[in-house]
Amino acid sequence: MSAAPTTSPSPILVTGGAGFIGSNFIRAWLAQETSPVVNLDKLTYAGNLDNLGDLPPTRLEFVHGDIGDVRLVKSLLARVRPRAIVNFAAETHVDRSIHGPDDFIATNVVGTFRLLECARDYWQRLDAAEKPAFRILHVSTDEVYGTLSAQDAAFNEANAFRPNSPYAASKAASDHLMRAWHHTYGLPILTTNCSNNYGPYQFPEKLIPLMIHNALAGTALPVYGDGLQVRDWLHVEDHCEAIRVVLRGGRPAETYNIGGNSEKANIDVVHAICDALDGEHPRGDGRSYRSQIAFVKDRPGHDRRYAIDAAKMRTELGWSPKETFESGLLKTIRWYLANQPWTERVISGAYRDWIHTNYSAR
Ligand code: NAD
Ligand code: DAU
Repeated sequence: MSAAPTTSPSPILVTGGAGFIGSNFIRAWLAQETSPVVNLDKLTYAGNLDNLGDLPPTRLEFVHGDIGDVRLVKSLLARVRPRAIVNFAAETHVDRSIHGPDDFIATNVVGTFRLLECARDYWQRLDAAEKPAFRILHVSTDEVYGTLSAQDAAFNEANAFRPNSPYAASKAASDHLMRAWHHTYGLPILTTNCSNNYGPYQFPEKLIPLMIHNALAGTALPVYGDGLQVRDWLHVEDHCEAIRVVLRGGRPAETYNIGGNSEKANIDVVHAICDALDGEHPRGDGRSYRSQIAFVKDRPGHDRRYAIDAAKMRTELGWSPKETFESGLLKTIRWYLANQPWTERVISGAYRDWIHTNYSAR
């Protein structure tokens, strides 16, 4: 009797997989799923192959390129024949979008549009067996909904889009494109809108890794405005699990809000970082890291509060976060303490230029 032929599972295409969430997603995916991954990334300042260096090359292929490069993406899809695309590729830092919105429009709007067109062309050519199973999952943000006051209910999927920063507007535009490409062409789209992530491999321009980096460097911890803006923090591994759950069981055309049910004022986050560092890695002079806190000029148009109602994820797909903010933050601080050479490698001359641009006039 001859053995049944073995077929290897179809790959997935991840875009932006050399960044913070994408690299955590690929790591978790390879540990828990059988399909290999092809990672298309432009390697902007935020993308770093070091984030994936320990992963098995037999199951992970890297392709250097732009989601907006139609020739490249079309030929990649034809060669790889993925069963799904998970789109993380984006410009992601609100402050950078305020100083220079062009790249945000180029990647988040035009790039997403071109990726969608390539995906549509590919999907239309799939055979009858492959077509219904194909998915494109677009990773988006809670910032598309705008800002909340202290009394408002958390954002749910029915909230209107009211983006306030160039970044948020560019992400909202990409979400609208996703919706329209489903409604008009039937493309099987899933969209996730997530709150603030933190965890390993986050570029030290975002609040939590910036504060850890500056604390250890002995420089100021710059808190914007009164520090009472509220974010809903989610550990990146919980976000990555949520994305896998949506890819597996989410209904095409639906959007899913993902959050940590963990609202914190920025100043409380900074205090928590200082206190944890005081315990894990005390300053040489015996003073608390809190002594490095400096209140600085606010971000223009700064959204006051974000909060996510993740009831749909819980009731429809059975997902809820595993990590609390306290456990996740301590894990994260220990990771940054153990991986200081990683931070030193990802920051460059361009990083110092950015720090000057964003903070010198505050
Ligand atoms: P990141 O900035 O760390 O990484 C972005 C990655 O995309 C980098 O590897 C970069 O090189 C790549 N990239 C940028 N432009 C590209 C292009 N034109 N073509 C191909 N690759 C390109 O971002 P992140 O924090 O990991 O965010 C990933 C996604 O999740 C983004 O879409 C972001 O909007 C969304 N999101 C982030 C958060 C958060 O708190 N970080 C929360 C909710 C949603
Ligand atoms: O809500 C999800 C979004 O969270 C993602 O879509 C974005 O990609 C991600 O960057 C993040 O946006 P924020 O603007 O909320 O994140 P950031 O880490 O830049 O700032 C968090 C809060 O901390 C915000 O209120 C601004 C404040 N802040 C930030 C920095 C960098 C400071 O007070 N000082 C700082 O130096």
